[in-house]
Amino acid sequence: MKLSAFGTKFTTESGILSLMDDLGNALAGDQDMIMMGGGNPSHIPEVQALFHDRTRRILDNPKEFRHLIGVYDPPQGEIEFTTNMAKLLRRELGWDVSARNIALTNGSQSGFFMLFNMFAGEYSNGQQKKIQLPLAPEYIGYSDAGLNGDFFTAGHPKIDYLDAHTFKYRVNFDEIKISEQTGAICVSRPTNPTGNVITDDELAKLDELAKQHDIPLIIDSAYGTPFPNLIFTDATPLWNDNIIACMSLSKLGLPAARTGIIVASEAVIRAVSSVNAIINLSTGSFGPVLTQDMVRSGEIIRISNDLVKPYYQQRAQLAVNWFHSALGELPYYIHKAEGAMFLWLWFKDLPISSLELYQRLKARGVLIVSGHYFFPGITDEWQHKHECIRVTYSQEADQVKKGIEIIADEVRNAYERS
Ligand SMILES: Cc1ncc(COP(=O)(O)O)c(C=O)c1O
Repeated sequence: MKLSAFGTKFTTESGILSLMDDLGNALAGDQDMIMMGGGNPSHIPEVQALFHDRTRRILDNPKEFRHLIGVYDPPQGEIEFTTNMAKLLRRELGWDVSARNIALTNGSQSGFFMLFNMFAGEYSNGQQKKIQLPLAPEYIGYSDAGLNGDFFTAGHPKIDYLDAHTFKYRVNFDEIKISEQTGAICVSRPTNPTGNVITDDELAKLDELAKQHDIPLIIDSAYGTPFPNLIFTDATPLWNDNIIACMSLSKLGLPAARTGIIVASEAVIRAVSSVNAIINLSTGSFGPVLTQDMVRSGEIIRISNDLVKPYYQQRAQLAVNWFHSALGELPYYIHKAEGAMFLWLWFKDLPISSLELYQRLKARGVLIVSGHYFFPGITDEWQHKHECIRVTYSQEADQVKKGIEIIADEVRNAYERS
């Protein structure tokens, strides 16, 4: 099969593809796996019950049902939903937005694809621009989203040791080189994979930098405020005309609804809508119709704060405690669990690579993710890239505890025998 440059780029092995393939194959094997690898949100019974009730009410209401399955929404997204969302953001966060500042996409992932390629890549004057990530580790889903190869630059983070076994990444502003070749800055807050939440100060500086250079600051809020609000630390949400905030209904428990929400200046929203019209014709109605009432009433905030956030926060704390007691005296560090739904562990000077550790754990029935995937834009051979793993902690508690004991045993073997 002969493929274009686009066809080749998007079918050649990418980090996300090989990761998903490997996770899928491991799942399809005969061994019972302890799943501490995936990024699927948990099926929280109370939250599922709410969505179940709401679905039933839609089914019983012919007008709403028709809208759920039988209407092409405009390429900017369902109007009542974007209007209610704007009111919610004004009320809850004080953001000066109207429905004209909001566009929906089929998942925030497709929103990033559009935004990255709108601001980076080739410009009409031949200039090539890139997306600057203030620091990596960053979300693996960005890595291959550029239409041409070399799309990201990223800074090495500063490492702040908080106690004997806890650390936090901080933005190293000396490493951020904004130039004519920078199309936009993008950061996830909280971050997948590390659970890091960049501080208000760091965010304010990034905002300033972006404005100075007349480029947008994209804030990926898939785990952030106001929903699902998986933030376990103090963090003030920020928005202004130069910021593109990207939200999602996925981590609230609706990944299959594929609803991403972009909040930006009217000009950016018009541009996103045009791209959306060409790529998708229309955005899916399922997420907006399902959550319409919750957004109108603000219940989506209560669900986030009273059900979703405590669920993950408690799980995170349990997993951290189990890791501390299982890893004992080993030279490990856990990234401060400030948000999202993962723990990020760093095994300093680990004699084997994190990929080898992943393989050994898979052979023992525990699936984690090797950290080396999460360094888009860092091209040097930084040893740290091969010393970290990402662990999901939201499965059944006894499974997670067992998985953590196996991880600790394998890490101990690696330090003592390799
Ligand atoms: C940081 C981050 N951003 C964006 C996404 C994409 O989410 P969705 O396309 O489901 O909205 C994910 C999914 O895992 C994520 O972890």
